[in-house]
Amino acid sequence: MAVKENNIPRHIAIIMDGNGRWAKKRGLPRTAGHAAGAEAFRRTANYCRTLGVEYLTVYAFSTENWKRSEEEVAGIMRLLGKYLEEALADMEKNRVRFKFFGDLSRLSPQLQKLCYDAQNRSADYDVQVNFCLNYGGRDEIVKASAAFARDVAEGKHQPEDLTEELLSSYLYSKDVPDPELIIRPSGEKRTSNFLLWQSAYSEYVFLNVLWPDFQPKDLDEAISEYCRRNRRFGGV
Ligand code: FPP
Repeated sequence: MAVKENNIPRHIAIIMDGNGRWAKKRGLPRTAGHAAGAEAFRRTANYCRTLGVEYLTVYAFSTENWKRSEEEVAGIMRLLGKYLEEALADMEKNRVRFKFFGDLSRLSPQLQKLCYDAQNRSADYDVQVNFCLNYGGRDEIVKASAAFARDVAEGKHQPEDLTEELLSSYLYSKDVPDPELIIRPSGEKRTSNFLLWQSAYSEYVFLNVLWPDFQPKDLDEAISEYCRRNRRFGGV
């Protein structure tokens, strides 16, 4: 392990990018890349638990990903369903608390049920995985703003009540500390509408490895880079 335990971030977030390129390099369909990406997720989630990371948030499907071919979208949804079925069967053993960030209403009724079952049945466990599914950072802030406006209209709040803390409490991430570290593999250097509000002070680490190839050593490298940076939160 390349990093000191007391410097392990409490919350790591990952943009799981590069599945398509991984598949293309091998002459395989894009869905094969997503299947290998799902394995990389399992590996990484297990390793995060070993390290003592308390929250892992992964970008599994964005509000923009619906633009992909029907076949690719169906393939990703199938993988998520399969993963959740397995997780539900193994719940007692893994003791992972599942949360879903995003508008689940556009998912199939079967997948929604798996998400809610996983969320409800794991509520008392301690290591938390947040799946961002049909998630967009702007969409999250718009939905939170609308929910606050509704509460104002119903007399539960005054407009002047709004603070950063209060708006945070309307986000999917309420009760979750902001991620200290956000990792994007695959060489792309964009945030792609991921955790826009929560990433205000996050350290970004961009790695050249494609997500399906991501190994514990890559997480070590990202955490080491995070530890080397001097986090000042706007102070001196
Ligand atoms: C981005 O790579 C990846 C996605 C849009 C989907 C991520 C989904 C998974 C890893 C499978 C989900 C399942 C579980 C169980 C976590 P890309 O397709 O944009 O890659 P590219 O940029 O190389 O085309």
